[in-house]
Amino acid sequence: MRRDVERELLDELPAADPRAVRARQDLQTVHTWMGTTRIMARLLATTFGDRPPASITELGAGDGTLLLRVAQLLAPRWQRVHVVMVDRQRLVSPKTRAAFESLSWRVESVQADVFDWLERPHATESDVMTANLFLHHFAEADLGRLLRQASDQTGCFLACEPRRNHLSLRAAGLLWLLGCNDVTRHDARISVQAGFTDIELSALWPPGANWRVSERSAGRFSHCFMARRISAVRS
Ligand SMILES: C[S@@+](CC[C@H](N)C(=O)[O-])C[C@H]1O[C@@H](n2cnc3c(N)ncnc32)[C@H](O)[C@@H]1O
Repeated sequence: MRRDVERELLDELPAADPRAVRARQDLQTVHTWMGTTRIMARLLATTFGDRPPASITELGAGDGTLLLRVAQLLAPRWQRVHVVMVDRQRLVSPKTRAAFESLSWRVESVQADVFDWLERPHATESDVMTANLFLHHFAEADLGRLLRQASDQTGCFLACEPRRNHLSLRAAGLLWLLGCNDVTRHDARISVQAGFTDIELSALWPPGANWRVSERSAGRFSHCFMARRISAVRS
C-alpha cells in the first residue's frame, strides 16, 4: 500500500468545535483498541528500566491524556519526571495537569508548531522524546526534517504510529461500531494511509554510527520506532 498524506479534519477544526471535542474523546477509544498506552509504557520501561528519564517531551501531545495514562502505569516506579507537552493547540486541561501532579510528575505544556519548537535552542536536552499518532501527519521531506531536528535535541526518540496495512484500514472502517464520530472515522482512514511499515522511519532518521535504531509492528494496528544514541545507552 503506497503511503499517502492528506490533511486531517481534526487539524482543521477549531479546538472548541463540538465535533473536534468529541473526536478527541474518540481518540481515547482508538488508543484502547490500538493498545497505545501499554505499547508506549513498555517501550519506555524497557529502554530506561528502573532509572527513569528526568524529562519526557511529547511532540503533538494533544490533550495529554494518552501520556497521562502512560505516566499512571509507570509512576509506581518512576517519580518526579518532568513532562513537556508540545502541541500547536492549547488542549491540556487543569484536570489532566492535576492528575500528573498527583503522581509527582511536573508538567509543562507548550503551544507551538513542532518545527518552531524543535528549532529553538533549549537549556537542557530531553532525555526522551515521544510521538504518538503524530509523525504520520507529515510527508517525507517534513518528516525527515522533524527527525533530524529531534536527533539534535534528545538522546532517545520513541514513536507509536498507525501501521499501514489492509488490516488497519479495515479496522478504521469499523470505528462506527464503537460510536466514533464522522471526524474520527475520516481521520482514522487517512491516518492509516499515512502510517508506516517496514523501516520507513529508520530510513529518515539521520544516518550515523552513533545511533541504535529499530522499527517493528506492535499490537494489532501499531508501528513503533526507536532511536537511541549509543553513548546514552546504559548497559
Ligand atoms: C491525532 S492527534 C494525537 C494526539 C496525541 N498524541 C494522542 O495520541 O492522543 C495529533 C496532534 O498533533 C497536533 N499537531 C499537528 N500538527 C502539528 C504541528 N505542526 N505542530 C504541533 N502540533 C501539531 C494536533 O494539534 C493534534 O493535537
